[in-house]
Amino acid sequence: MWNTTKIENMEGKVIIVTGANSGIGFHVTRVLAGKNATVVLASRNEEKAKKALKKISDEYKSAKLKYINLDLADLNSIIEFSKKFKSQFNRLDVLCNNAGVMWFPYKKTVDGFELQFGTNHLGHFALTGNLLDYLLKTENSRVITMSSIAHFTGKIDFSDINDEKRYNRYSAYSKSKLSNLLFAFELQRKFDEHNINSLSIATHPGIARTNLFNSGTAGEKNIRHYFHKTISFLFGQTAYLGSIPMLRAATDEKIKGGKYYGPLILGLWGWAVRNFSSPRSHNKKLAQKLWEISEKLTGVTYKFN
Ligand SMILES: NC(=O)c1ccc[n+]([C@@H]2O[C@H](COP(=O)([O-])OP(=O)(O)OC[C@H]3O[C@@H](n4cnc5c(N)ncnc54)[C@H](OP(=O)(O)O)[C@@H]3O)[C@@H](O)[C@H]2O)c1
Repeated sequence: MWNTTKIENMEGKVIIVTGANSGIGFHVTRVLAGKNATVVLASRNEEKAKKALKKISDEYKSAKLKYINLDLADLNSIIEFSKKFKSQFNRLDVLCNNAGVMWFPYKKTVDGFELQFGTNHLGHFALTGNLLDYLLKTENSRVITMSSIAHFTGKIDFSDINDEKRYNRYSAYSKSKLSNLLFAFELQRKFDEHNINSLSIATHPGIARTNLFNSGTAGEKNIRHYFHKTISFLFGQTAYLGSIPMLRAATDEKIKGGKYYGPLILGLWGWAVRNFSSPRSHNKKLAQKLWEISEKLTGVTYKFN
């Protein structure tokens, strides 16, 4: 079974992990730093990011870590992040689109997008587009995008893309995670069309005990809040095990683009293997429509040559 001992020395590789300060992103960062990669912690909270950075540096004295502020719910912050990254690095081997929010009451991002779709999908769409030139100039670069089993119930209503008419926090999260998959698969098709040797791979962690289950209802502290916490407490595997699919997708030389990796046991727990996603996630027309609207909303146009 694939495990992190299979990861070779990553000296010289530059990797970005969004949401690196917590949960799955923290372990992805920690393991890759331990394999000598240079890892950029792309986090929105400086204090949390520096705490995570210190913890990893304490474990691996020679870890090469850099914090650059990134708020995926703010298009200007994404542009600023990309500029800062490009001024400090000349390659990008792996972009881990990991950060996410789940089950929030109705809120909007700085740019007026529904928060979960805006952060989880549009934020990463804009980030990847802003970094595309670096991904294209780095041989065999990879984009790893985090989805969820929640994508199975995801649907996209293009006539109400920001859920302004009707909002359900669970459906909005599922829609954002379906969008992550549609994006990841479409990106690979575009790489193939343009004969680009970069890979786009999707992953999910099954269920992992992380802050994700607390944050959406943190301001509510009602039955719903304790119910969400109970789900992760009863059914969640460790955040470390939850990070294995993303780690495998980021490093395993045998993996092909356009695939989806998740846990072995019922797609919920255990080591990382190839998983299957919903028929809707492979719908090319839907993916193209989402791509077009994502370019329009974010103002980010992908240029492959
Ligand atoms: N845990 C699970 O069972 C599970 C299941 C399926 C999918 N996932 C996916 O796994 C990914 C990681 O989640 P996790 O479980 O590790 O949860 P987590 O511990 O809550 O981590 C989420 C990370 O995303 C960051 N983030 C949220 N909004 C952001 C924004 N606007 N800009 C930049 N960073 C932002 C958070 O930053 P702060 O610390 O500042 O909030 C945090 O670092 C998410 O995409 C999630 O949907 C998790």
